[in-house]
Amino acid sequence: MDRFCNRRTAFVVFLLAFLETFAATGQSVAQANSHPIPSIVEKDGRFALMVDGKPYLMLGVQANNSSAWPATLDKVWPAAETLHANTVELPIYWEQLEPLQGKFDFSVVDLTLKQAREYHVHLVLLWFGTWKNGSSHYTPEWIKLDQQKYPFVVGKDGKTVDSPSPFAPARLEADKTAFRALMRHLKQSDPERTVVMVQVENEAGEWGGVRDYGAEAEKAFAGPVPQKLATGLGKQAGASGTWAQVFGDDADETFMAWYVADYIEQVAAAGKQEYALPLYVNAALRDPFKPGHAPSYESGAPTDNNIALWKVASPSISIVAPDIYMDDYAKYMKVMELYKRDHNPLLIPETGNSAAFARYVFAAIGQGAIGWAPFGLDLTRYSNLGEGAPEAMESGALKPVARQYELLAPIARELAQGNLEGTVRGASEDPDAHTQTLDFVRWQATLEYGMPSFGNWMKPKGNTPPDGGAVILELAPDEFLVAGHHVRVDFTPTYAPGKKRLWLKVEEGSYDAAGNWKTARIWNGDQTDYGLNLKADENVLLRVTVTTF
Ligand code: DGJ
Repeated sequence: MDRFCNRRTAFVVFLLAFLETFAATGQSVAQANSHPIPSIVEKDGRFALMVDGKPYLMLGVQANNSSAWPATLDKVWPAAETLHANTVELPIYWEQLEPLQGKFDFSVVDLTLKQAREYHVHLVLLWFGTWKNGSSHYTPEWIKLDQQKYPFVVGKDGKTVDSPSPFAPARLEADKTAFRALMRHLKQSDPERTVVMVQVENEAGEWGGVRDYGAEAEKAFAGPVPQKLATGLGKQAGASGTWAQVFGDDADETFMAWYVADYIEQVAAAGKQEYALPLYVNAALRDPFKPGHAPSYESGAPTDNNIALWKVASPSISIVAPDIYMDDYAKYMKVMELYKRDHNPLLIPETGNSAAFARYVFAAIGQGAIGWAPFGLDLTRYSNLGEGAPEAMESGALKPVARQYELLAPIARELAQGNLEGTVRGASEDPDAHTQTLDFVRWQATLEYGMPSFGNWMKPKGNTPPDGGAVILELAPDEFLVAGHHVRVDFTPTYAPGKKRLWLKVEEGSYDAAGNWKTARIWNGDQTDYGLNLKADENVLLRVTVTTF
């Protein structure tokens, strides 16, 4: 009897264990199917960030630097909600995560994940580790207080520079350990894939000098250029010389860039081994037209002249991304052109938060960006606008971006898919040219700024301030989805010279949750006789079918 009982108990225990394992496996398979790990895909040189298995367009916002604390997070989420942002970028502070070496505190990470889910936003986490704006101010106290072990950069004059030396094996190991712990924790605690990307460090490089002149750095500088770099940059075989021999005048900056990028690669690779989320680095820029020389810009950073080097040094990093704080139209366009290149998806993880920047979301999407995020739009009342600006940012400052995101958020998935297929075009108002054109397979779209809603006998004079823009998605050769702000849109048939455009149908409407188009009304008469006038204070989505006469 006893034996029978034992056997029966053993069988029940076995059965329960089996069922539990099966259930767990079944669950994780289901989870993995509906929430695969976010990734970057490429198709014919175009890119998409895949979230839940589908292309995702990040309409983001980055919180202020000191906003990612339990005490201030409630000033972040409502701002994201007002903005209609689908993604919030938040720092993870090394000093908070590992206050004592080896003792990790994930409470803030966990709270952040929980609250992001409650507010239905995705997260991009920013690892404020060794580098933050070229300095090292987010390292824990146990690092700051042991400068022998965790050295700063040494300047040419022998003085200490407020920048972490990349020649610091102990700090590199510590950063790897911390980043690995963070990524491991995310893997365990985020099966929903709330976090879609992670930024490794922040604006790494050195301000105030071109390179490290510490003893270890000097030794490396006198030695040969690493073969990986020489080969990766396509240098001649004879390039196996010293840095000065191979890179001439650029030797100091290239040297610094290599060692910063190599350090970050090791941190990134350690984290990626734990959890293979897409990783990126962000760059403080140099002037795209008149770059000058380091150190007039951050040396060793992933500036446009060093993108190729960073690609060679850091294969674990999927994206080298520009932080665009230049509100000049030509510069903004040029920076996007410089960073949108083979094997480098365009991502703008930080951009200015004043009204002038809001329209650039249209051009960014038109250039195929997988994401765009103004910096510092939260309700902590901090302002980074500097001299002449109000000392604190009030909630009204959210309006310009909120207006654009309200329009774009409902079609974000369609735009991301279209960008992967190459069917999206977009433009932001150029203050110096009040007409822009966008080319599709059979049609050319014309965007005019500063036109009234009635009449076509006047010339476009531009908006004051220049705040217009539009994105157009080609749904079929003669069918388009038009989303714009403060702009008149019309079409010309390029496939039928001599013919004119005839509106077949212009529908105002929206997509429902299942992605089906719902028509609210058809525009005709005054609403279409003078082009499609998309006003500044309205957010309408038009589905337009065109033919010729
Ligand atoms: C760029 C940095 O990456 C941000 O963290 C922030 O410091 C801004 N500059 C300035 O507000």
